[in-house]
Amino acid sequence: MADNDTPAENVPSDKSNASSENAIEISIDALASEVQESLSLAKRQKFWETQPVGQVKDLGDTSLPEGPIQQPTPLSEVKQEPYNLPSAYELVTIWILRRCVVSWHIGLRVKTSKKLVAFISGIPAKLCICDAAMLIAEINFLCVHKKLRSRTLTPVMIKEVSRRVRMENIWQEAYTSGVVLPTPITTCQNWIRPLNPEKLIDVGFSRLGARMTMSRTIKLYKLPEQTTTPGFRKMEPHDVPAVTRLLRNYLKQFVLAPNFDENEVEHWLLPKEDVMDAYVVESPESHEITDFCSFYTYTRSIFGSQDHSILKVAYSYYNVSTKTPLVQLVSDALVVAKKKDLDVFNVLDIMLNETFFRELRFHRADGKLNYYLYNYRLKHVLRSSEIGLVPL
Ligand SMILES: CC(C)(COP(=O)(O)OP(=O)(O)OC[C@H]1O[C@@H](n2cnc3c(N)ncnc32)[C@H](O)[C@@H]1OP(=O)(O)O)[C@@H](O)C(=O)NCCC(=O)NCCS
Repeated sequence: MADNDTPAENVPSDKSNASSENAIEISIDALASEVQESLSLAKRQKFWETQPVGQVKDLGDTSLPEGPIQQPTPLSEVKQEPYNLPSAYELVTIWILRRCVVSWHIGLRVKTSKKLVAFISGIPAKLCICDAAMLIAEINFLCVHKKLRSRTLTPVMIKEVSRRVRMENIWQEAYTSGVVLPTPITTCQNWIRPLNPEKLIDVGFSRLGARMTMSRTIKLYKLPEQTTTPGFRKMEPHDVPAVTRLLRNYLKQFVLAPNFDENEVEHWLLPKEDVMDAYVVESPESHEITDFCSFYTYTRSIFGSQDHSILKVAYSYYNVSTKTPLVQLVSDALVVAKKKDLDVFNVLDIMLNETFFRELRFHRADGKLNYYLYNYRLKHVLRSSEIGLVPL
């Protein structure tokens, strides 16, 4: 997690912000060779080679059809029994979230001790991929106990969740991962904006930039005390229809994006203390909702610091601007995040986010995030700015 990539005072270079067609082509080529290198034949993908995903050998082959790789079968032909496991383990279904298909929350536990040692989950989601609306499963929270790593439990968990997804007559999945697997539809860069630079430097998350002092760094990242947009206020339940309209209009421009309805906006975006923050801009004159911004928060443990035990991290979620400039909207989001005592604000370079990085003093972080589709082939690698889906 340490952000040693870029000195704290650095802002994105022109190169990293390149947006010309030429630069995009280069970055797609670079991504393709990066993937080919990471997944070279010397390191066979024994599991992923057997799955209906874009394969490394097919990268750049535009003769392959876009769309589902395997066609749906009658549900009676979907494997009815769970995948085999080593005899010491059993699969359990865990009820944890609202709005879920319960059977898609799969735990693996040791039969004798009942200890949970692995987990994977899926939730149903409506997505638009290249203008095609489809119901898919978003797969998330895969983890295997440290002591059981490298024993190929992961493929069992993935196959089992896919089997259960198919049992519900859903044939595509979307997932993200920091690791390169066959084969990303895009790779996004994480950018961060320090809110509490002193703490970030103290705990080793960031380091002091060259020729910078702590007081200059604090000054550099200082934010206004108050938001600046007239009518900027917390989202309320009665804003759901307006926010849904704003989001649906905005997300149409991206190649891959959720197809939100009001129920989903209510569920995912209404503010929840210490989980989700969402703000609207209500025109003081017309009372129309013209803009919207949101972020979610995680708390992470800090080890090895005498002064701090937790890091409070904000992740930009969906921001839609129609009247307020996006940079001003996100600046206001930073102000409220700072007021909530959050330490750092993360944003992926998806959607139009790249347009505010420089002005708001974001800098490139270590993390990259790869997006994947299961059982759906795209002819071309996407630019990160073509992605309108924010993973949670
Ligand atoms: C990710 C994690 C479950 C992998 O476990 P592991 O024991 O190393 O992997 P296994 O030996 O069980 O399985 C190996 C297979 O899983 C694949 N795999 C590894 N990480 C994966 C991921 N995040 N998503 C999908 N597949 C993954 C590998 O590519 C490999 O398949 P291959 O032979 O075709 O290449 C484990 O490292 C973990 O729990 N990490 C902490 C939580 C985490 O990072 N989760 C992922 C969030 S995206």
